[in-house]
Amino acid sequence: MIQRPIQRGLLLVGTFISLTVFLSCAPRTMRSVVDSRGFLFGVAVRPGDLLDPKDSKLLKDNFNILVAENIMKLQYLRPTATFWNWSDVDNLVRFAEENRMKLRGHTFVWHNQNPPFINNLSDKEAALKVLTETITEVLTRYKGKFYEYDVCNEVIDDNGVLRNSIWMRTIGPEYIDIAFKTARQADPSVKLILNDYNNEYAGTVKGDAFYNLVKGMVDRGVPIDGVGFQLHMLAELPVNKEALQANIKRFRDLGLTVSFTEVDVRIKLPVTPEKEAAQQAVYEDLLRIAREENISCFVLWGYTDAYSWIPGTFAGYGSAHPFDQNKQPKKLYGSLRKILEK
Ligand code: XIL
Repeated sequence: MIQRPIQRGLLLVGTFISLTVFLSCAPRTMRSVVDSRGFLFGVAVRPGDLLDPKDSKLLKDNFNILVAENIMKLQYLRPTATFWNWSDVDNLVRFAEENRMKLRGHTFVWHNQNPPFINNLSDKEAALKVLTETITEVLTRYKGKFYEYDVCNEVIDDNGVLRNSIWMRTIGPEYIDIAFKTARQADPSVKLILNDYNNEYAGTVKGDAFYNLVKGMVDRGVPIDGVGFQLHMLAELPVNKEALQANIKRFRDLGLTVSFTEVDVRIKLPVTPEKEAAQQAVYEDLLRIAREENISCFVLWGYTDAYSWIPGTFAGYGSAHPFDQNKQPKKLYGSLRKILEK
């Protein structure tokens, strides 16, 4: 009788201690790590990733920002002048909201993955109408839903001049300014980004051409908020840290943000431990610089080799992502996590 309250007290204390021990030992997810660092760490997704329970759990456990790998490209979003394919995008927006994730939009103005009615444009007025209508329609529907949007993608070609795209041929070089102004008008809150590849290093033909284009836009008062470096890298080429940091700095000096938008590091097959170590070094350098420079977001172009775009695009290359064919984390994943935990 006398012992009972004591026993009850001991039981309570015991439960409290085991609960505390359990909670402190429960593994933290990558998501909770990046959230606690205030770092935006994301990935490109396909509609199926959100439907498969295992894939969607992996997304929720690791990332706090998503981008559509394909469904927001005009080939899919606006396959004809009158038909809009909203349902997949609506699902993505809902998934992100339900899981408190941010979203990048990708992309309006590009030379690839356009529908025939855009590829066949020949008249300036008609092209201007399609361009402004598309941007306005999408950003009105999703006003306030996107953190950043790649308004234009890959507008500079490998020789450092404006690419000879359908938009360039029909409208002329002013299509870029027009696209950004239209986007700003439709959604004043979304960060407007000019995105490209091979634009990450100061002192290269394309890197400098990209910078000069952006500087011109800023000087003209075009509403651009930031630039995107895609960063599709090769394991065999170490990161030129000085050139990357110098580039980030000069965009900062223009008052712009820098996002790492499509990071992957492909390996020339067959994979060897040495090549994997080289790949890890590239990923680590990028992530370290991203954290040091406090960039806007760090987004992977795919998480698993199972759904990778790499083998189909770069023959003889693969194994470019942190999760393997079976969606198991590679050693690389652990090393990225360590950098994020710091
Ligand atoms: C790629 C997708 O990953 C592929 O599935 C698709 O077949 C082609 O496009 N730069 C970009 C991305 O801006 O949109 C591209 O995505 C990869 C290169």
